[in-house]
Amino acid sequence: MNTPACDRIIIFDTTLRDGEQSPGATLNVEEKLTIAKQLARLGVDVIEAGFPFASPGDFEAVSKIAQQVGTEEGPTICGLARATKQDIESAAKAVSFAAKPRIHTFLATSDIHLEYKLKKTRQDVLQIAPEMVAYAKTFVNDVEFSPEDAGRSDPEFLYQVLERAIAAGATTINIPDTVGYTTPSEFGGLIKGIKENVPNIDQAIISVHGHNDLGLAVANFLEAVKNGARQLECTINGIGERAGNAALEELVMALHVRRQYFNPFFGRPPESEAPLTQIDTRQLYKTSRLVSNLTGMLVQPNKAIVGANAFAHESGIHQDGVLKHKLTYEIMDAQSIGLTDNQIVLGKHSGRNAFRTRLKELGFELADQELNRAFLRFKELADKKKDVSDWDLEAIVNDEAQQVPELFRLEHVQVSSGDHARPTATVTLRTPDGQELTDAAIGTGPVDAIYKAINRVVDIPNQLIEFSVQSVTAGIDAIGEVTIRLQHDDRIFQVTGQIPISSLRRLMLM
Ligand code: KIV
Ligand code: ZN
Repeated sequence: MNTPACDRIIIFDTTLRDGEQSPGATLNVEEKLTIAKQLARLGVDVIEAGFPFASPGDFEAVSKIAQQVGTEEGPTICGLARATKQDIESAAKAVSFAAKPRIHTFLATSDIHLEYKLKKTRQDVLQIAPEMVAYAKTFVNDVEFSPEDAGRSDPEFLYQVLERAIAAGATTINIPDTVGYTTPSEFGGLIKGIKENVPNIDQAIISVHGHNDLGLAVANFLEAVKNGARQLECTINGIGERAGNAALEELVMALHVRRQYFNPFFGRPPESEAPLTQIDTRQLYKTSRLVSNLTGMLVQPNKAIVGANAFAHESGIHQDGVLKHKLTYEIMDAQSIGLTDNQIVLGKHSGRNAFRTRLKELGFELADQELNRAFLRFKELADKKKDVSDWDLEAIVNDEAQQVPELFRLEHVQVSSGDHARPTATVTLRTPDGQELTDAAIGTGPVDAIYKAINRVVDIPNQLIEFSVQSVTAGIDAIGEVTIRLQHDDRIFQVTGQIPISSLRRLMLM
Protein backbone atom coordinates (compact mmCIF):
# COMPACT_ATOMS: atom_id res chain seq x y z
CA MET A 1 0.00 0.00 0.00
CA ASN A 2 1.25 3.46 -0.74
CA THR A 3 -0.77 5.52 1.73
CA PRO A 4 1.16 6.73 4.80
CA ALA A 5 -1.75 6.19 7.19
CA CYS A 6 -1.61 2.46 6.44
CA ASP A 7 1.19 1.72 8.90
CA ARG A 8 -1.34 1.89 11.73
CA ILE A 9 -5.08 1.47 12.27
CA ILE A 10 -7.49 4.31 11.53
CA ILE A 11 -10.34 4.33 14.02
CA PHE A 12 -13.61 5.43 12.40
CA ASP A 13 -16.23 5.93 15.07
CA THR A 14 -19.86 5.59 13.98
CA THR A 15 -21.51 5.80 17.42
CA LEU A 16 -23.40 8.91 16.32
CA ARG A 17 -24.63 7.36 13.07
CA ASP A 18 -24.92 3.54 13.16
CA GLY A 19 -24.85 3.56 16.99
CA GLU A 20 -27.72 5.99 17.10
CA GLN A 21 -29.69 3.57 14.91
CA SER A 22 -29.99 1.30 17.98
CA PRO A 23 -33.65 0.93 18.84
CA GLY A 24 -34.54 3.70 21.32
CA ALA A 25 -31.10 5.35 21.35
CA THR A 26 -32.07 8.76 20.03
CA LEU A 27 -29.78 11.62 20.99
CA ASN A 28 -30.50 15.34 20.70
CA VAL A 29 -28.10 17.74 19.01
CA GLU A 30 -26.47 18.88 22.26
CA GLU A 31 -25.96 15.30 23.40
CA LYS A 32 -24.37 14.39 20.06
CA LEU A 33 -22.04 17.35 20.39
CA THR A 34 -21.05 16.29 23.91
CA ILE A 35 -20.24 12.78 22.65
CA ALA A 36 -18.35 14.11 19.61
CA LYS A 37 -16.15 16.27 21.88
CA GLN A 38 -15.36 13.25 24.02
CA LEU A 39 -14.61 11.13 20.92
CA ALA A 40 -12.11 13.79 19.88
CA ARG A 41 -10.47 13.60 23.35
CA LEU A 42 -10.41 9.82 22.96
CA GLY A 43 -8.40 10.33 19.76
CA VAL A 44 -10.59 8.75 17.08
CA ASP A 45 -9.43 9.57 13.55
CA VAL A 46 -12.86 9.90 11.96
CA ILE A 47 -16.27 10.67 13.44
CA GLU A 48 -19.23 9.61 11.33
CA ALA A 49 -21.48 12.27 12.79
CA GLY A 50 -24.77 11.30 11.15
CA PHE A 51 -26.83 10.89 8.01
CA PRO A 52 -27.59 14.52 7.05
CA PHE A 53 -30.33 13.84 4.50
CA ALA A 54 -32.23 11.60 6.95
CA SER A 55 -33.66 14.46 9.05
CA PRO A 56 -33.17 18.17 9.81
CA GLY A 57 -31.96 17.14 13.30
CA ASP A 58 -29.25 14.91 11.80
CA PHE A 59 -28.23 17.68 9.41
CA GLU A 60 -27.94 20.17 12.26
CA ALA A 61 -25.94 17.75 14.42
CA VAL A 62 -23.46 16.95 11.63
CA SER A 63 -23.04 20.68 10.82
CA LYS A 64 -22.48 21.63 14.46
CA ILE A 65 -20.02 18.78 15.04
CA ALA A 66 -18.19 19.78 11.83
CA GLN A 67 -17.94 23.37 13.10
CA GLN A 68 -17.05 22.73 16.72
CA VAL A 69 -15.15 19.43 16.69
CA GLY A 70 -13.86 19.22 13.12
CA THR A 71 -10.95 21.61 13.69
CA GLU A 72 -7.56 21.40 12.01
CA GLU A 73 -6.15 19.31 14.90
CA GLY A 74 -9.45 17.46 15.41
CA PRO A 75 -10.81 14.34 13.70
CA THR A 76 -12.15 14.06 10.16
CA ILE A 77 -15.92 14.62 10.18
CA CYS A 78 -17.92 12.32 7.95
CA GLY A 79 -21.53 12.40 6.76
CA LEU A 80 -23.35 9.35 5.38
CA ALA A 81 -25.20 9.48 2.04
CA ARG A 82 -26.97 6.93 -0.11
CA ALA A 83 -25.69 6.91 -3.68
CA THR A 84 -28.04 9.69 -4.78
CA LYS A 85 -27.35 13.32 -5.65
CA GLN A 86 -29.72 14.68 -2.99
CA ASP A 87 -28.12 12.66 -0.19
CA ILE A 88 -24.61 13.57 -1.32
CA GLU A 89 -25.44 17.30 -1.58
CA SER A 90 -26.89 17.28 1.93
CA ALA A 91 -23.86 15.44 3.38
CA ALA A 92 -21.49 17.79 1.51
CA LYS A 93 -23.21 20.85 2.95
CA ALA A 94 -23.25 19.49 6.50
CA VAL A 95 -19.56 18.47 6.58
CA SER A 96 -18.36 21.56 4.69
CA PHE A 97 -17.67 23.34 7.99
CA ALA A 98 -15.04 20.78 9.00
CA ALA A 99 -11.33 21.29 8.36
CA LYS A 100 -11.20 17.65 7.21
CA PRO A 101 -14.59 16.73 5.67
CA ARG A 102 -15.50 13.27 4.33
CA ILE A 103 -18.53 11.99 2.42
CA HIS A 104 -19.37 8.31 2.87
CA THR A 105 -21.66 7.04 0.14
CA PHE A 106 -23.07 3.51 -0.09
CA LEU A 107 -24.90 1.23 -2.50
CA ALA A 108 -25.81 -2.41 -1.97
CA THR A 109 -24.06 -5.08 -4.05
CA SER A 110 -25.61 -8.37 -2.86
CA ASP A 111 -28.11 -9.97 -5.21
CA ILE A 112 -30.68 -10.19 -2.42
CA HIS A 113 -30.50 -6.40 -1.83
CA LEU A 114 -30.49 -5.64 -5.55
CA GLU A 115 -33.49 -7.80 -6.32
CA TYR A 116 -35.74 -7.09 -3.34
CA LYS A 117 -34.67 -3.73 -1.93
CA LEU A 118 -33.23 -1.65 -4.75
CA LYS A 119 -34.87 -3.36 -7.76
CA LYS A 120 -31.66 -2.72 -9.68
CA THR A 121 -29.37 -4.88 -11.79
CA ARG A 122 -25.65 -5.46 -11.31
CA GLN A 123 -25.15 -3.36 -14.44
CA ASP A 124 -27.00 -0.46 -12.75
CA VAL A 125 -24.67 -0.69 -9.74
CA LEU A 126 -21.56 -0.72 -11.95
CA GLN A 127 -22.76 2.54 -13.42
CA ILE A 128 -24.22 4.34 -10.36
CA ALA A 129 -21.41 3.63 -7.87
CA PRO A 130 -18.61 5.39 -9.80
CA GLU A 131 -20.98 8.16 -10.93
CA MET A 132 -21.92 8.99 -7.35
CA VAL A 133 -18.36 8.70 -6.06
CA ALA A 134 -17.32 11.17 -8.77
CA TYR A 135 -20.20 13.45 -7.77
CA ALA A 136 -19.15 13.37 -4.10
CA LYS A 137 -15.61 14.11 -5.25
CA THR A 138 -16.80 17.45 -6.70
CA PHE A 139 -17.42 18.54 -3.07
CA VAL A 140 -14.63 16.91 -1.06
CA ASN A 141 -11.36 15.08 -1.68
CA ASP A 142 -11.98 12.47 0.96
CA VAL A 143 -14.68 10.08 -0.32
CA GLU A 144 -15.51 6.70 1.17
CA PHE A 145 -17.54 4.12 -0.74
CA SER A 146 -19.33 1.13 0.82
CA PRO A 147 -20.83 -1.76 -1.14
CA GLU A 148 -23.59 -2.51 1.36
CA ASP A 149 -24.00 -6.19 2.28
CA ALA A 150 -20.53 -6.93 0.86
CA GLY A 151 -20.37 -9.94 3.18
CA ARG A 152 -23.09 -11.65 1.11
CA SER A 153 -22.06 -10.27 -2.31
CA ASP A 154 -20.49 -12.23 -5.13
CA PRO A 155 -16.75 -11.46 -4.70
CA GLU A 156 -16.09 -11.29 -8.46
CA PHE A 157 -18.81 -8.63 -8.85
CA LEU A 158 -17.57 -6.83 -5.74
CA TYR A 159 -14.05 -6.55 -7.22
CA GLN A 160 -15.47 -4.86 -10.33
CA VAL A 161 -17.55 -2.37 -8.32
CA LEU A 162 -14.62 -1.51 -6.07
CA GLU A 163 -12.25 -1.03 -8.99
CA ARG A 164 -14.66 1.45 -10.58
CA ALA A 165 -15.32 3.29 -7.30
CA ILE A 166 -11.57 3.73 -6.74
CA ALA A 167 -11.05 4.82 -10.34
CA ALA A 168 -13.76 7.45 -9.76
CA GLY A 169 -11.88 8.82 -6.75
CA ALA A 170 -12.86 6.83 -3.64
CA THR A 171 -10.00 7.16 -1.14
CA THR A 172 -11.43 4.60 1.30
CA ILE A 173 -13.36 1.51 0.31
CA ASN A 174 -15.32 0.08 3.19
CA ILE A 175 -16.41 -3.57 3.29
CA PRO A 176 -19.57 -3.97 5.36
CA ASP A 177 -20.79 -7.23 6.81
CA THR A 178 -24.17 -5.54 7.05
CA VAL A 179 -26.07 -8.47 8.51
CA GLY A 180 -23.27 -9.93 10.66
CA TYR A 181 -23.25 -13.16 8.66
CA THR A 182 -19.60 -13.94 7.97
CA THR A 183 -17.14 -15.89 10.10
CA PRO A 184 -13.62 -14.61 10.88
CA SER A 185 -11.81 -16.74 8.30
CA GLU A 186 -14.39 -15.90 5.61
CA PHE A 187 -14.19 -12.19 6.34
CA GLY A 188 -10.38 -12.24 6.41
CA GLY A 189 -10.49 -14.16 3.12
CA LEU A 190 -12.79 -11.54 1.60
CA ILE A 191 -10.29 -8.78 2.42
CA LYS A 192 -7.42 -10.89 1.07
CA GLY A 193 -9.37 -11.48 -2.16
CA ILE A 194 -9.98 -7.75 -2.54
CA LYS A 195 -6.29 -6.99 -2.07
CA GLU A 196 -5.33 -9.59 -4.66
CA ASN A 197 -8.03 -8.96 -7.26
CA VAL A 198 -8.80 -5.25 -7.33
CA PRO A 199 -6.05 -3.87 -9.58
CA ASN A 200 -6.04 -0.29 -8.19
CA ILE A 201 -6.53 -1.27 -4.51
CA ASP A 202 -3.24 0.38 -3.52
CA GLN A 203 -4.88 3.77 -4.17
CA ALA A 204 -7.39 3.35 -1.34
CA ILE A 205 -7.50 2.40 2.31
CA ILE A 206 -9.41 -0.81 3.01
CA SER A 207 -11.94 -0.32 5.77
CA VAL A 208 -14.28 -2.78 7.48
CA HIS A 209 -17.73 -2.34 8.99
CA GLY A 210 -19.60 -5.15 10.68
CA HIS A 211 -22.59 -6.05 12.79
CA ASN A 212 -22.63 -8.41 15.71
CA ASP A 213 -25.60 -10.65 14.90
CA LEU A 214 -23.54 -13.78 15.58
CA GLY A 215 -21.26 -12.11 18.14
CA LEU A 216 -18.37 -12.24 15.66
CA ALA A 217 -17.87 -8.60 14.65
CA VAL A 218 -14.67 -7.94 16.62
CA ALA A 219 -13.14 -11.32 15.67
CA ASN A 220 -14.00 -10.66 12.01
CA PHE A 221 -12.31 -7.25 12.13
CA LEU A 222 -9.12 -8.61 13.68
CA GLU A 223 -8.90 -11.19 10.91
CA ALA A 224 -9.49 -8.39 8.39
CA VAL A 225 -6.61 -6.42 9.95
CA LYS A 226 -4.30 -9.40 9.46
CA ASN A 227 -5.29 -9.40 5.79
CA GLY A 228 -4.75 -5.71 5.12
CA ALA A 229 -7.75 -3.74 6.46
CA ARG A 230 -6.47 -0.48 7.95
CA GLN A 231 -9.65 1.36 8.95
CA LEU A 232 -12.07 -0.09 11.50
CA GLU A 233 -15.63 1.22 11.74
CA CYS A 234 -16.86 0.74 15.26
CA THR A 235 -19.00 2.17 18.05
CA ILE A 236 -18.57 2.83 21.75
CA ASN A 237 -20.00 -0.07 23.80
CA GLY A 238 -20.73 -1.80 20.47
CA ILE A 239 -24.11 -0.10 20.13
CA GLY A 240 -25.84 -0.07 16.73
CA GLU A 241 -28.47 -1.67 14.52
CA ARG A 242 -29.89 -4.90 15.98
CA ALA A 243 -27.08 -6.70 17.86
CA GLY A 244 -24.85 -3.66 17.36
CA ASN A 245 -21.52 -2.91 15.69
CA ALA A 246 -17.98 -4.01 16.49
CA ALA A 247 -17.08 -2.42 19.85
CA LEU A 248 -14.37 0.24 19.66
CA GLU A 249 -12.99 -0.44 23.13
CA GLU A 250 -12.62 -4.17 22.41
CA LEU A 251 -10.81 -3.62 19.10
CA VAL A 252 -8.50 -0.97 20.51
CA MET A 253 -7.57 -2.99 23.59
CA ALA A 254 -7.10 -6.20 21.57
CA LEU A 255 -4.65 -4.35 19.31
CA HIS A 256 -3.02 -2.76 22.36
CA VAL A 257 -2.74 -5.77 24.67
CA ARG A 258 -1.79 -8.20 21.85
CA ARG A 259 0.50 -5.75 20.05
CA GLN A 260 3.26 -8.35 19.80
CA TYR A 261 0.92 -10.67 17.93
CA PHE A 262 -0.35 -7.99 15.52
CA ASN A 263 2.88 -6.04 14.91
CA PRO A 264 4.23 -8.34 12.17
CA PHE A 265 1.06 -7.76 10.09
CA PHE A 266 2.11 -4.09 9.99
CA GLY A 267 5.66 -4.92 8.98
CA ARG A 268 6.97 -4.15 12.49
CA PRO A 269 9.11 -6.33 14.71
CA PRO A 270 6.94 -8.12 17.30
CA GLU A 271 8.53 -6.25 20.22
CA SER A 272 7.79 -2.77 18.77
CA GLU A 273 6.16 -0.57 21.43
CA ALA A 274 4.68 1.91 18.95
CA PRO A 275 0.89 1.97 19.37
CA LEU A 276 -1.22 0.50 16.58
CA THR A 277 -3.97 3.11 17.01
CA GLN A 278 -3.97 6.75 18.05
CA ILE A 279 -6.54 6.16 20.78
CA ASP A 280 -5.83 7.47 24.28
CA THR A 281 -6.93 4.26 26.01
CA ARG A 282 -7.23 6.08 29.36
CA GLN A 283 -10.30 7.84 27.94
CA LEU A 284 -12.12 4.58 27.10
CA TYR A 285 -13.98 4.07 30.33
CA LYS A 286 -15.16 7.66 30.57
CA THR A 287 -16.36 7.61 26.94
CA SER A 288 -18.24 4.38 27.54
CA ARG A 289 -20.01 5.85 30.58
CA LEU A 290 -20.91 9.02 28.71
CA VAL A 291 -22.41 7.14 25.76
CA SER A 292 -24.30 4.83 28.08
CA ASN A 293 -25.68 7.75 30.10
CA LEU A 294 -26.76 9.80 27.11
CA THR A 295 -28.22 6.97 25.02
CA GLY A 296 -29.77 5.20 28.02
CA MET A 297 -28.26 1.93 26.73
CA LEU A 298 -26.90 0.19 29.77
CA VAL A 299 -23.60 -1.68 29.58
CA GLN A 300 -23.93 -5.31 30.65
CA PRO A 301 -21.79 -5.95 33.78
CA ASN A 302 -19.74 -8.68 32.07
CA LYS A 303 -19.07 -6.59 28.95
CA ALA A 304 -15.40 -6.87 27.89
CA ILE A 305 -13.19 -3.90 28.83
CA VAL A 306 -15.84 -1.47 30.16
CA GLY A 307 -18.35 -3.68 32.02
CA ALA A 308 -18.60 -3.17 35.79
CA ASN A 309 -17.15 -6.65 36.36
CA ALA A 310 -14.40 -6.49 33.74
CA PHE A 311 -11.74 -6.00 36.43
CA ALA A 312 -13.55 -7.53 39.41
CA HIS A 313 -12.28 -10.79 40.90
CA GLU A 314 -14.83 -12.74 42.90
CA SER A 315 -13.32 -16.17 43.39
CA GLY A 316 -11.01 -16.59 46.37
CA ILE A 317 -8.37 -18.31 44.24
CA HIS A 318 -8.37 -15.41 41.78
CA GLN A 319 -8.28 -12.77 44.54
CA ASP A 320 -5.37 -14.53 46.18
CA GLY A 321 -3.52 -14.73 42.86
CA VAL A 322 -4.11 -11.08 41.98
CA LEU A 323 -2.93 -9.96 45.42
CA LYS A 324 0.28 -11.95 44.95
CA HIS A 325 0.82 -10.71 41.40
CA LYS A 326 -1.69 -8.80 39.25
CA LEU A 327 -0.68 -10.61 36.07
CA THR A 328 -1.88 -13.96 37.44
CA TYR A 329 -5.45 -13.13 36.41
CA GLU A 330 -5.25 -9.72 34.72
CA ILE A 331 -4.09 -9.27 31.13
CA MET A 332 -4.38 -5.50 31.29
CA ASP A 333 -4.21 -2.80 33.89
CA ALA A 334 -7.51 -1.16 34.90
CA GLN A 335 -5.71 2.18 34.76
CA SER A 336 -4.99 1.69 31.07
CA ILE A 337 -8.70 2.25 30.30
CA GLY A 338 -8.99 5.16 32.73
CA LEU A 339 -10.16 3.40 35.89
CA THR A 340 -8.18 4.54 38.89
CA ASP A 341 -7.27 2.45 41.92
CA ASN A 342 -7.70 5.62 43.85
CA GLN A 343 -11.49 5.77 43.88
CA ILE A 344 -12.00 7.52 47.23
CA VAL A 345 -10.64 11.00 47.03
CA LEU A 346 -13.10 13.67 48.08
CA GLY A 347 -15.41 14.18 51.03
CA LYS A 348 -17.65 16.84 52.54
CA HIS A 349 -14.74 18.98 53.68
CA SER A 350 -13.23 19.20 50.22
CA GLY A 351 -13.30 22.64 48.64
CA ARG A 352 -14.01 23.89 45.14
CA ASN A 353 -10.34 23.84 44.22
CA ALA A 354 -9.86 20.19 45.14
CA PHE A 355 -13.08 19.40 43.31
CA ARG A 356 -11.96 21.24 40.17
CA THR A 357 -8.49 19.65 40.31
CA ARG A 358 -9.86 16.12 40.68
CA LEU A 359 -12.27 16.67 37.79
CA LYS A 360 -9.37 17.89 35.68
CA GLU A 361 -7.37 14.78 36.55
CA LEU A 362 -10.35 12.73 35.43
CA GLY A 363 -10.37 14.63 32.12
CA PHE A 364 -13.38 16.90 32.74
CA GLU A 365 -12.92 20.59 31.98
CA LEU A 366 -16.11 22.41 32.97
CA ALA A 367 -17.00 26.03 32.25
CA ASP A 368 -17.42 28.15 35.41
CA GLN A 369 -21.20 27.90 35.48
CA GLU A 370 -21.21 24.14 34.94
CA LEU A 371 -18.56 23.79 37.61
CA ASN A 372 -20.66 25.76 40.10
CA ARG A 373 -23.69 23.59 39.47
CA ALA A 374 -21.65 20.39 39.66
CA PHE A 375 -20.01 21.60 42.89
CA LEU A 376 -23.41 22.16 44.52
CA ARG A 377 -24.43 18.62 43.53
CA PHE A 378 -21.16 17.30 44.93
CA LYS A 379 -21.74 19.10 48.26
CA GLU A 380 -25.27 17.71 48.49
CA LEU A 381 -23.94 14.21 47.88
CA ALA A 382 -20.98 14.63 50.24
CA ASP A 383 -23.41 15.57 53.00
CA LYS A 384 -25.17 12.24 52.59
CA LYS A 385 -22.17 10.10 51.67
CA LYS A 386 -18.91 9.91 53.56
CA ASP A 387 -16.66 9.18 50.61
CA VAL A 388 -17.31 10.56 47.15
CA SER A 389 -15.60 8.33 44.60
CA ASP A 390 -14.41 9.12 41.08
CA TRP A 391 -17.43 7.24 39.79
CA ASP A 392 -19.72 9.51 41.81
CA LEU A 393 -17.95 12.55 40.38
CA GLU A 394 -18.32 11.24 36.88
CA ALA A 395 -22.00 10.55 37.47
CA ILE A 396 -22.47 14.12 38.71
CA VAL A 397 -20.65 15.67 35.74
CA ASN A 398 -22.42 13.60 33.13
CA ASP A 399 -25.73 14.57 34.62
CA GLU A 400 -24.67 18.22 34.26
CA ALA A 401 -23.82 17.58 30.63
CA GLN A 402 -27.39 16.67 29.89
CA GLN A 403 -29.18 19.55 31.58
CA VAL A 404 -32.13 20.57 29.41
CA PRO A 405 -34.25 23.69 29.76
CA GLU A 406 -36.86 22.98 32.42
CA LEU A 407 -40.42 23.43 31.25
CA PHE A 408 -42.35 21.94 34.16
CA ARG A 409 -40.85 21.70 37.64
CA LEU A 410 -41.80 18.91 40.02
CA GLU A 411 -42.72 20.65 43.29
CA HIS A 412 -44.11 17.76 45.26
CA VAL A 413 -44.70 14.05 44.97
CA GLN A 414 -46.44 11.73 47.37
CA VAL A 415 -47.00 8.00 46.84
CA SER A 416 -48.84 5.39 48.83
CA SER A 417 -48.50 1.70 48.16
CA GLY A 418 -48.54 -1.62 50.00
CA ASP A 419 -49.36 -5.31 49.61
CA HIS A 420 -53.13 -4.71 49.85
CA ALA A 421 -53.24 -1.08 48.68
CA ARG A 422 -53.49 0.23 45.13
CA PRO A 423 -50.43 2.34 44.31
CA THR A 424 -51.62 5.94 44.30
CA ALA A 425 -49.60 9.09 43.62
CA THR A 426 -50.24 12.80 44.04
CA VAL A 427 -48.00 15.25 42.21
CA THR A 428 -47.73 19.02 42.11
CA LEU A 429 -46.03 20.58 39.09
CA ARG A 430 -45.12 24.21 38.47
CA THR A 431 -45.87 25.18 34.86
CA PRO A 432 -43.48 27.32 32.77
CA ASP A 433 -45.61 30.41 33.60
CA GLY A 434 -45.40 29.75 37.35
CA GLN A 435 -48.81 28.13 37.98
CA GLU A 436 -49.00 25.27 40.47
CA LEU A 437 -51.11 22.28 39.35
CA THR A 438 -51.90 19.19 41.42
CA ASP A 439 -53.48 15.87 40.44
CA ALA A 440 -53.51 12.24 41.55
CA ALA A 441 -53.68 8.83 39.87
CA ILE A 442 -53.63 5.09 40.51
CA GLY A 443 -51.00 2.97 38.72
CA THR A 444 -49.71 -0.59 38.45
CA GLY A 445 -46.87 0.38 40.79
CA PRO A 446 -45.65 3.56 42.53
CA VAL A 447 -43.59 4.80 39.55
CA ASP A 448 -46.41 4.14 37.10
CA ALA A 449 -48.81 5.97 39.44
CA ILE A 450 -46.50 9.03 39.49
CA TYR A 451 -46.30 9.11 35.70
CA LYS A 452 -50.06 8.72 35.35
CA ALA A 453 -50.55 11.63 37.78
CA ILE A 454 -48.05 13.77 35.83
CA ASN A 455 -49.91 12.94 32.61
CA ARG A 456 -53.13 14.22 34.11
CA VAL A 457 -51.44 17.53 34.83
CA VAL A 458 -49.51 18.08 31.60
CA ASP A 459 -52.19 16.70 29.28
CA ILE A 460 -49.75 15.44 26.61
CA PRO A 461 -50.76 11.88 25.69
CA ASN A 462 -47.81 9.59 26.39
CA GLN A 463 -47.04 6.20 27.84
CA LEU A 464 -44.29 5.11 30.22
CA ILE A 465 -42.65 2.20 28.38
CA GLU A 466 -39.55 1.66 30.46
CA PHE A 467 -38.23 2.55 33.88
CA SER A 468 -34.91 1.07 34.92
CA VAL A 469 -32.45 1.71 37.71
CA GLN A 470 -28.83 0.60 37.72
CA SER A 471 -26.38 1.25 40.49
CA VAL A 472 -23.28 2.97 39.09
CA THR A 473 -21.38 3.22 42.35
CA ALA A 474 -21.12 0.75 45.20
CA GLY A 475 -22.73 0.72 48.64
CA ILE A 476 -26.05 1.49 50.27
CA ASP A 477 -25.61 5.23 49.61
CA ALA A 478 -24.57 4.68 45.98
CA ILE A 479 -25.55 6.78 43.00
CA GLY A 480 -28.11 5.10 40.76
CA GLU A 481 -28.67 5.71 37.09
CA VAL A 482 -32.33 5.98 36.18
CA THR A 483 -33.51 5.58 32.61
CA ILE A 484 -37.02 6.54 31.63
CA ARG A 485 -38.55 6.03 28.20
CA LEU A 486 -41.85 7.57 27.21
CA GLN A 487 -43.75 7.12 23.99
CA HIS A 488 -45.70 10.01 22.45
CA ASP A 489 -47.43 9.18 19.13
CA ASP A 490 -44.80 7.02 17.45
CA ARG A 491 -41.80 8.82 18.95
CA ILE A 492 -39.81 7.58 21.92
CA PHE A 493 -38.34 10.09 24.36
CA GLN A 494 -35.73 9.06 26.78
CA VAL A 495 -33.99 10.61 29.72
CA THR A 496 -31.24 9.35 31.98
CA GLY A 497 -30.31 10.87 35.29
CA GLN A 498 -28.49 10.10 38.50
CA ILE A 499 -29.97 10.06 41.98
CA PRO A 500 -28.96 8.46 45.28
CA ILE A 501 -30.23 4.86 45.33
CA SER A 502 -31.43 5.36 48.91
CA SER A 503 -34.07 7.89 47.81
CA LEU A 504 -35.33 5.46 45.18
CA ARG A 505 -35.43 2.68 47.70
CA ARG A 506 -37.59 4.88 49.92
CA LEU A 507 -39.92 5.42 46.97
CA MET A 508 -40.08 1.68 46.19
CA LEU A 509 -40.88 0.85 49.80
CA MET A 510 -43.69 3.37 50.08
O1 KIV B 1 -24.17 -1.89 7.95
C1 KIV B 1 -23.97 -1.26 6.88
O2 KIV B 1 -23.85 -1.81 5.79
C2 KIV B 1 -23.90 0.19 6.97
C3 KIV B 1 -23.46 0.92 5.73
C4 KIV B 1 -24.19 2.20 5.57
C5 KIV B 1 -21.97 1.11 5.78
O3 KIV B 1 -24.12 0.75 8.02
ZN1 ZN C 1 -23.97 -0.69 9.72
